[in-house]
This record gives sequence, C-alpha cells and structure tokens, in this order.
Amino acid sequence: MKLYYIETYGCQMNIADSELVAGILQKEGYVQAGCMDDADVIFLNTCAIREHAEKKIHSRLGVLNKLKQNNPAMVLGILGCMAQHVKDDILENKPYVDFVLGPDTYRRIPQLLRRHKELQTSIVDTRLSRFEVYEDLFPSRREGINAWVSIMRGCDKFCTFCIVPFTRGRERSRPLKSICNEIEKAVDKGYVEITLLGQNVNSYYFGSARFPDLLDAVAKIPGVQRVRFTSPHPKDVDDDMLFVMRDNNNLCKSIHLPLQSGSDHVLKRMSRTYNQNEFLALVTRIKEILPGCSLTTDIIVGFPGETGADFEETLKIMKIVKFDSAFTFKYSSRQGTKAAEFNDQISETEKQVRLEALITLQSQHTLFNNSREIGNSLKVLVEKESKKDSNKWAGRTDTNKWVIFPKGHTRIKEFVDIKITSAHGVSLFGIPELNLESTYAVI
Ligand code: 5AD
Ligand code: SF4
Repeated sequence: MKLYYIETYGCQMNIADSELVAGILQKEGYVQAGCMDDADVIFLNTCAIREHAEKKIHSRLGVLNKLKQNNPAMVLGILGCMAQHVKDDILENKPYVDFVLGPDTYRRIPQLLRRHKELQTSIVDTRLSRFEVYEDLFPSRREGINAWVSIMRGCDKFCTFCIVPFTRGRERSRPLKSICNEIEKAVDKGYVEITLLGQNVNSYYFGSARFPDLLDAVAKIPGVQRVRFTSPHPKDVDDDMLFVMRDNNNLCKSIHLPLQSGSDHVLKRMSRTYNQNEFLALVTRIKEILPGCSLTTDIIVGFPGETGADFEETLKIMKIVKFDSAFTFKYSSRQGTKAAEFNDQISETEKQVRLEALITLQSQHTLFNNSREIGNSLKVLVEKESKKDSNKWAGRTDTNKWVIFPKGHTRIKEFVDIKITSAHGVSLFGIPELNLESTYAVI
C-alpha cells in the first residue's frame, strides 16, 4: 500500500485542486498518509501570487530535503502555480525535487509516477492547456459542510500586477452538466453548501450558458442549501447575475468584489477595466437589487506609482462602501508581469504604513456593520465547534459572517435562528432563539 500526503498553500482553487489530485491518487490505489513522515509521495501544492507565498515554499522545501535524506525512496513533487513559475530554479538548485507539475497536468500524474519509478529522473511538466477542466474526474473531499466545485480555470484579464494568467493560463469553462452532476454527488454525500470556484468565476461561459444560468441551475438542484462563489470580477457582475441571486433563497447574499485600488490613475495602470465611479455605481446597483447583501473586497497598497493622494482615494472609496471585510495586501512585484517593469516602485516602509492605515479603517467598518446586527435574529448554519469555547458552535450567516453561540440542543449542519447580542473583532455573538427564555430566566 502506497501512502500520499498533500500540503496545500494559497487560494481555495488550490484546495479544490488538491482534492482533485487526491481523487486521482486514490483511484490508483494510494491511501492518504496520517502524517508527512509516513508518506511515500509528498506533493506541495503551491502559490505564486506574492513573494511571501513563494518564500514559504522554499523554506518548506528545506525541511523536506532533510526528510528525504532519511528516506531516499520518498517521492517529492511541486504542484500548482509556483511550479509553472520557478521550474528552472527548482531544477538547478533543488535536485531532490522529483516532480515539477503545473496546474494543467494532474490527469497525467499516475503515468508520470510510473515513469519516474522506471527512469529515476526528475520530471517536469508545466505545459498549460486551453481545454483542461478535469470535468470527468471526481475530487476526494474532506468531510464537512462545504464542497468546493471548480467551474472554470485560468484568467484572460491580465491585470498588470497579477501572475495568475501566466501560471494558470487561458480562461476555459467546464460543461454545465458536469458541474451539476458533481454537485448532485456532493449533495448525496451530505455536503449542504456548495462554493463555485474560478479565478474569474463570473466570466463562466459554456455553450449558451453564462454565469447567471449556471447559478440558477445549481440553486435548483434538490438538497443544495447554500451556494457561494468566488472570486468574481466587478466587470462581469451584471443585472442578470443579481436577479438570479435575488430570486433564489439558497444563493447566499454575499459578494466578494475586489476593488484593488480606489484611484482612477492606479486602476488604469492596473488594467482593472473599471474606474472609481463605475465601481461605486455597481455597489449601488447591488444594494438596490440585493438589499442587505454583504460586500467584501481585496485591496493592494503600494502599487507602482501610487501617490499619497491615490492612496487617499482608496480610503475614500472604503469609507463610502464600508465593506464587511477586506483582504489587504502590500504590492509584491512578480517577474513576468507588466507592473514589474514599472520603474516607480514604492518603498517597503511606505507600503507598510499604508497597509496599517487600511487595516485600521477596515476593522472599524467591520465592527460598524456587525454592530448593526445586534438585536437582529439571523439564520446561521452550524458548522463547527468554536476554537475558543468547546460549549459553543461557530456558524455562518447567509452574508458570510461568523457567529458564535451556545450549543444547546443544536447540531452541526442544522440551521438555527440566532439572536445577535454582541459584535467583537470580526465575529458576531448570540443565543439560539429557542434558548432565549431559559437563558433570561437564569440571568
Ligand atoms: N501583489 C499583491 N497582491 C496581489 N494580488 C494579486 N497579485 C498581487 C501582487 N502581485 C492580490 C489581489 C487579488 C488577490 C487574490 O491577491 O488583490 O485579488
Ligand atoms: Fe489576477 Fe486580475 Fe485575473 Fe484576478 S482578474 S486572477 S487579479 S489577472
């Protein structure tokens, strides 16, 4: 019996890809190892989006090199975005790496493992495909509430800061029928929430089916209780998508809308294809059609040429929109992208100052929005035990906010009405509606 171990870095797309690779290996008779030290095959599924992500992998490889010295028969492979990006470096400087495989090569893994066994040489395959969507392969998912379902791969937007179009190649979508089949199987296995994934999820297009058609079809699959999707591009959000979200209760009222910058000058140099006014008009439209819909975002500080005034524009847009939460990043220069060639790079110190200002402002907005929920009763899907208190559950609202509450008689995968009593940090706290009377009696 051969054992495998996959360590995953980066975005949800990588989590889904690791589950796909696990499915492929299990079909070949491999079994998941309990820990890395026991494994015959170790894959690191890597991310190249920022320098920091790559550094983490390099230091991890140092540890694995030592592991391999103790167990030379162990096979070590690099998968994913970084494979595509740094294959030469890995081949020249890290001869103990047996495989370097890009994100479109996973179907060939069984054949490549056999070839490696015969030839005992390193194998590199980072070819990108215009067609590969793995529509006929079934991932081996971790048990839980949520099933990640990849609906499209790659990106054609070429934002000037982003390495993804180079590491993951051209945009391609998966047949609607194969997506629905996979979701039906996931529901049969007990998953109650489906998250549709793609680098540019809402530019989905297969035959005559666009993203709103897919959303509608997925919402109508019996047993699908919640549907989320990530990450959309603001340019591809249209009324049809919003109407379908409005008309289906199980499509969660939560949209991740990456702003990246609030300055028209910076947005143009980023090639984001929208300006400040267009972004704000879109936010207004979303709130019109989906009142109460939560909005989250991604923002980059210190993009080349970003002046103090540009940064103020970002803060201004944040203050107008008041996002529910934000992923905030310091710009990281990625070799091969257009922005890496811009000669007006911003100092690390300035980036840090701007990042801290952004984080402070966002935490005020998160708390402001969450505090407005105090006194409301929200429907929460019970997901897991609270990390801080084993007597409490943690679950999410439709709008993707975490709520912590006493377990009472409720169970995982149940929907519970929670009366919100307070908001701290990024979470809400409350009491199950049914328990209210007895709780007050005790008080
Ligand atoms: N530097 C910093 N952040 C980046 N992102 C993408 N590329 C870079 C980069 N070079 C951020 C964007 C994107 C998120 C997934 O990562 O905000 O939306
Ligand atoms: Fe990167 Fe832009 Fe494509 Fe998103 S839309 S993956 S930020 S190039």
